[in-house]
Amino acid sequence: MIEFTDQDVEKYSKSTVSGTGFLAYRDVEKLLSKLNLKPKRALDLGCGSGRSIGVIKDLCDSVTGCDISELALKNTHKSHPDVEVFLNDLSSKQYPSAKFDSIFSFLMFCHVDSLQSMSQELERCYNSLNEGGFLLIVKPNRAVAVADFSSVQGVGTPPELEGDCFNVHLKNVDLVVEDVYWKPETIQQECEKLGFSYLALHQPLGEIADNQPYRDEYHESPYFYLVMQK
Ligand SMILES: C[S@@+](CC[C@H](N)C(=O)[O-])C[C@H]1O[C@@H](n2cnc3c(N)ncnc32)[C@H](O)[C@@H]1O
Repeated sequence: MIEFTDQDVEKYSKSTVSGTGFLAYRDVEKLLSKLNLKPKRALDLGCGSGRSIGVIKDLCDSVTGCDISELALKNTHKSHPDVEVFLNDLSSKQYPSAKFDSIFSFLMFCHVDSLQSMSQELERCYNSLNEGGFLLIVKPNRAVAVADFSSVQGVGTPPELEGDCFNVHLKNVDLVVEDVYWKPETIQQECEKLGFSYLALHQPLGEIADNQPYRDEYHESPYFYLVMQK
């Protein structure tokens, strides 16, 4: 598991839903409505300092936040005092609370650096969802390492094989983060091994109406959304 330092958490906490990153969140509501999915009691896995909670909060009856960074959870508590949070215990088989109807994970699975830790995290998700509940994962595509996106730029050698680490410069907060390359099909397969069923894969492209300073975002998708159901 790639961990953010406290300094990274603080810098990342300043990032807003804008630029290239706008596309990581823009289509969540539309996709849920197309699939007729109701998030009801939701978990935001890898909630960071609370930005993604801000995106999904109004779509859900309640949201709980989870992260491996205590500082991120403190920040979340400051920005969303009404939201319960907990620290992820990477040795457990289930999250320590009542089951959820939905689990959202924005830009978290790019921190997972082995198939084994991916499978363990997905198992916690599976065991913590009610029957019929869904998991929505939003993760960067390999394109973030090579394309000319407006606010996210690959640094150094792009990944060749799945599981390869690469660096990405988040221009808006001037932070270089480490990402791990996984294809959506691989995450889907790991989910299916646990009993999840595939619902949808969505790759958003930039639109003029977004009013963002896009470049390659108009023809290359920076992120994928994968939706799996228990
Ligand atoms: C790039 S940030 C995204 C934060 C937030 N979801 C957002 O969209 O703004 C990823 C977060 O995932 C957290 N993280 C990484 N691995 C995790 C794990 N196994 N369980 C929970 N959180 C994790 C990191 O500490 C970091 O705060």
